[in-house]
Amino acid sequence: MKWKMLMIWLVLLAVGILAGKFLFKSKPTSTALTPVKLYEAQGGYTPGLAGADTALAGFKGEIIEVRNGDKIQDAVKKANPGDLIRVYPGSYRETVYIDKDDISFQGIIIEGEWPTLDGGKELNDGFLYSGNGIIIENFKIINYKGNGIMGQAGNNFVIRNNWVVDAGVYGIFPEFGKNGLVEHNVLSGIEDAAIYVGMCDNIDVLHNETYESVAGIEIENSRHCLVENNYTHNNTGGLLVFITPGLPIKTCFDIIVRNNFVVDNNLENFAAPGSIVSGIPQGTGILIMAADDVTLEGNIITGNNNAGITITDLTLVANVATDPESEPNPDRLVILDNFMSNNGNDPGGQLKALMATQMESKGPDIIHFGGGSGGCILDKNKYRTFGLEDYGQCQVRTSIAVKSYMLAEPVPPRDISAEEKGKLTFYGVCSGCHAYGIRMIGPPTRDLQAIYNNNPQGIVDYITNPIRRRENYPEMPPQNYLSEETRMAVAEYMLTVEK
Ligand code: HEC
Repeated sequence: MKWKMLMIWLVLLAVGILAGKFLFKSKPTSTALTPVKLYEAQGGYTPGLAGADTALAGFKGEIIEVRNGDKIQDAVKKANPGDLIRVYPGSYRETVYIDKDDISFQGIIIEGEWPTLDGGKELNDGFLYSGNGIIIENFKIINYKGNGIMGQAGNNFVIRNNWVVDAGVYGIFPEFGKNGLVEHNVLSGIEDAAIYVGMCDNIDVLHNETYESVAGIEIENSRHCLVENNYTHNNTGGLLVFITPGLPIKTCFDIIVRNNFVVDNNLENFAAPGSIVSGIPQGTGILIMAADDVTLEGNIITGNNNAGITITDLTLVANVATDPESEPNPDRLVILDNFMSNNGNDPGGQLKALMATQMESKGPDIIHFGGGSGGCILDKNKYRTFGLEDYGQCQVRTSIAVKSYMLAEPVPPRDISAEEKGKLTFYGVCSGCHAYGIRMIGPPTRDLQAIYNNNPQGIVDYITNPIRRRENYPEMPPQNYLSEETRMAVAEYMLTVEK
């Protein structure tokens, strides 16, 4: 009896000392906190706050604390690469711009109270980073007009455990990044894509929930991505993998879509007219458009009223630009075992007409229309399919050998020229409101080129401090957070856009 008590006390004492070491030690020991190392330190699994505390064991930067009433941006100004910014519960009405490398942001959630970035329906973006090695976790992000979290050319990022509600056009939007992780986020009420991986390489999108958005998860012009264990439901379209022509990156291939729940994506499309996703039919479970080498395995796809899986070339969407450099067909798709039922209960428009030619009123589980070749499917007879006559029997049965598409070591930062910078900023920031020939939220780029012909400085001046010019348009948000150099680069690029 006595022995037992003594043992228990000894164990408790040891635990106490160890915990004390972690909690109170101000100069932790090992190497820098990079996302990949952080990910590995947690054994590839990242259970939120507890996981992040584990990561602190290998951390040697400063910790900067932000409390209700402070500005997160002030902490960013103070921070050096390697630092951790911890944000306490409270309401933060700001856009956080990060152009430094290796900064981590960690929200502290206390008894259900989150640190909340609130754009008040006035601000455009929650977090906007261009640095490398950025970690953003445990934030609630609400009421923005543009993006909840947007990355511009930042590599080696981790975005996780964030709760994004009604944050504008895109919820989580890493653009032109390499080697990143998007996991355990919950997003709803997004006008375009809730999770939007655009022009990226080597990205894992894991364990997220997306709902009541136009597109739940979108992988666009990206390569080597694993989309696994996500729950995407009650959107217009659940999970999309496609090429948008006209962007600097022309291809989309080597994507694994595995073990996701894609359920009841029947929401009426509320995207801005003119955007690509405004062409997505409501009731779309998974859409593969023009992307190559996409593997679909182990997904549970049910209750999507148009079709479970739609595979198509670029003719599906009317709004896309033509780009001779983008190959428009979806090639070499690999459809392994998936659970599909109850899809196609109420097909719309184009699909309804197509099914009518077959004397069918229901939409199919899987449809392929338009060009594309080299596809294969396991057990085609399990599903109601349309247009899969050319698909052979798959030789592989599983993709499970691929555990992750993230890289073992952080990749170096991108070295981008002024012209590329202008192009990226234009497509990342401006083109969401300015299309070439048609009115979107802002006037068509073509009209602006006519006004500012040979005058990029005029554009720089305007976007730094926009004034109301047109009765029938909303006000344009100022772009003064972009560096002087970037503003000039984007102005010059805007004047060269041709389609
Ligand atoms: C959130 C939407 C939005 C974004 C993002 C946006 N704009 Fe605009 N822009 C507008 C709107 C709306 C107007 C029209 C404002 C008016 O006439 O009062 C406008 C007007 C303009 C004008 C016309 C000024 C004039 O003299 O008539 C220029 C030039 C311009 N934007 C450039 C840009 C550039 C460059 C970017 C990217 C860095 C950009 N805009 C990003 C919405 C946006």
